Amino acid sequence: MFHNIPPGMARRMRDLEEIDARDRDDGTPRLERLRQVPPETGRFIALLAAAAPPGMVIEVGTSAGYSAMWLALACRETGRSLATFEVLPAKAAIARETFRLAGVDDIITLVEGDAREHLAALDGIGYCFLDAEKEVYAACYELVVPRLVPGGLLIADNAINHYETLKPMIDRALADERVDAMVVPIGKGELICRKH
Ligand SMILES: C[S@@+](CC[C@H](N)C(=O)[O-])C[C@H]1O[C@@H](n2cnc3c(N)ncnc32)[C@H](O)[C@@H]1O
Repeated sequence: MFHNIPPGMARRMRDLEEIDARDRDDGTPRLERLRQVPPETGRFIALLAAAAPPGMVIEVGTSAGYSAMWLALACRETGRSLATFEVLPAKAAIARETFRLAGVDDIITLVEGDAREHLAALDGIGYCFLDAEKEVYAACYELVVPRLVPGGLLIADNAINHYETLKPMIDRALADERVDAMVVPIGKGELICRKH
């Protein structure tokens, strides 16, 4: 997956990494910033996605499509496709351009809208990466976990840098007998849940 990233994707990844770094420094308003995962998290979520059991691969919170490119590498490797949800039309437009430039629009479906309105209709989720506004994490958790296949994975970003805000959901996951869960100190902290 990581040894032969197509040149168009590698270029788009570098460009988005530069824009994201600049955004964080130059006072770009929060809603306009890309707020994407760092590269090490991208690699981590891709490795987990490639190891996930058969089932849908989904992402909640697309932004410009940076993490989706990492997940697309895993989908390509395992012959699957990715559905990614983005509520802001401006971000969805950038993501669409990302997927075109990266050459992955054949394996990624971008769904525009609030993911909470779509998750209930899904079934048989093998893998979910959750990286949206922190206020929607708990609702997404409750929608995704019952729909995971046995062995299915739910990964939630920001489990360390937004620990206080996410604590109720993290505590819920750690005590939830439907899953085994832990937080790993990669990037901004990843909550990993595996369904029994
Ligand atoms: C932290 S950014 C995602 C970064 C992206 N995962 C990456 O690493 O490249 C969060 C994104 O989630 C989107 N979002 C927030 N709430 C959402 C919801 N309920 N449904 C879908 N997208 C949502 C925001 O508009 C924003 O673009």
